[in-house]
Amino acid sequence: MHSILLPLPLKDSIVNTFPTLIGLSFLLVTFIVSLIPCLFRKNIVSSRGISIPPGPILRYAFLRKHPEKTLHNWARAYGSLFSLWMGNQLFVVVSDAKAARDLLVTQGAIFSSRKKYFVKDQTIFAGRGITSSAYDDTWRHHRRLAMLFLTPKAIEGYGHVIEYEAFVLVRSLYADSQQGNLAVDPASYADRYAVNNMLSVSFATRSDSSSGLVKRALEIGKDFMDLTGPFSNAIDFLEPLQWIATRTRSRGRKVHDDLIRFYGGLYSALKARMEGGEIVPDCLAKTLIETEEKEKLDWEDTCMLTGAFILGGGPISEIIQWTIALLPSYPDIQARAHEELDRVIGRDHWPSAEDENRLPYIRAFIKEVERVHNPFWMATPHYSTQDHEYNGMFIPKDTVVVLNCFTMHHDEERYPDPYTFNPERYLGDELTSAESAKLGDPMKRDHWSFGAGRRICPGLVVAELRALPSEPITLRDSEGLSDRTPLSFRVKFEPRHEGVHEALGKLRI
Ligand code: HEM
Repeated sequence: MHSILLPLPLKDSIVNTFPTLIGLSFLLVTFIVSLIPCLFRKNIVSSRGISIPPGPILRYAFLRKHPEKTLHNWARAYGSLFSLWMGNQLFVVVSDAKAARDLLVTQGAIFSSRKKYFVKDQTIFAGRGITSSAYDDTWRHHRRLAMLFLTPKAIEGYGHVIEYEAFVLVRSLYADSQQGNLAVDPASYADRYAVNNMLSVSFATRSDSSSGLVKRALEIGKDFMDLTGPFSNAIDFLEPLQWIATRTRSRGRKVHDDLIRFYGGLYSALKARMEGGEIVPDCLAKTLIETEEKEKLDWEDTCMLTGAFILGGGPISEIIQWTIALLPSYPDIQARAHEELDRVIGRDHWPSAEDENRLPYIRAFIKEVERVHNPFWMATPHYSTQDHEYNGMFIPKDTVVVLNCFTMHHDEERYPDPYTFNPERYLGDELTSAESAKLGDPMKRDHWSFGAGRRICPGLVVAELRALPSEPITLRDSEGLSDRTPLSFRVKFEPRHEGVHEALGKLRI
């Protein structure tokens, strides 16, 4: 006998499914309502009823490609102090010079810590890196050690290294460019210059193009930069993601292991040389080896401290690449720089770092490159350790404070016609960037590329040492421009007069 499935009478069907539908709708509404606080910004008020600064309505602002441009638009919409939420983390973005000085410098006791980012601080640096550690005794200890090698006096001791590397840079470019017959991409040359400077300062070693040392340092540096932007990783803001195996977590662990293996290897090699009786030149690792016991540094401390120095080479290379790209793009500026070199230094010798204060136009040019092509538009964010009220707005404890350098570097009042590349705006500014950062009036500071306050870049004085080629070199054929570094481009290095070849041949590489 066949059984036939008949539909339930309509009335019964509605009656039976009605409670289920109500239940499902209830669950859906509850889910949506509970999601709202996760999706939209919340306000926090101080005990006096003062609110946090205004800002965008949505919570997760993953600002991957050009975060500085988004921050710039928000600064225009919400004002020079605005806030945004990434998950449960509140960010306050500082977009004017006065607020930067008032908060990061004057209130330095409150705004000098760092958030314990899961990827950068906890995974890669394992709580040791000077750049990411909280404002505590360990940071003070490590900063003091790093500063031993960054005082003007200490730097005098390795000024010749920087000059030598500058010479190697120019001579290699000139040689490989076959006196202007072949276009070369200067990126790898600039990288080698920057990493070798840092290897010399940290480990009293350098490497030529055939060695893998520079390549490996650059690979680690690139992986590190890719993973450590203030807004780069969802895993930094969504705690449950930290408990599971994700690609970001394993990449972070790999960078940690690479730092230990690579810098630990260089450290051990230097130690072995010293134990073998060799007298090695002064460098950061040598000081750490000599004071290891007294300073109570463990293995990871030393690897991370020296590693932080080498990572400082990245932005130096970027600034050089921009310099080489900009010179041929602005022939008038290039001609004026050449004229100054010819007049002040002459054509038959190499300028040294001490000559810089006699080269005001070239110094102005470099400041303008740093203003327009700042390698870190958001500096390294600071973190507040106490509640604070500023200009009628509340900044709670545990807020990440971001310096919005893009907006600050394009402030019409401070830099008229800010989108024009114009070194002349810095003529008359005779201060180094280190001196300029100490000015009482923040509107007179040259630029904010090295950050501000107690965490200001300690490598600033090294980064400022630049030996420029006195030899006349014509740069041509640069391609389009992008952000951190120019898009890949090639230039030809032509001798400007017959003395160039001879002058470049004088020193042996
Ligand atoms: C053009 C080159 C450079 C630029 C633009 C630059 C920029 C910066 C910025 C923006 C910060 C964060 C400052 C803040 O928190 O307010 C910083 C921190 C730091 N920089 Fe540099 N830097 C450069 C070169 C160097 C060099 C050459 C070294 C090492 C010799 C170095 C070592 C460090 C260290 C160790 C920190 C962490 C400081 C701390 O948190 O206490 N930097 N740098």
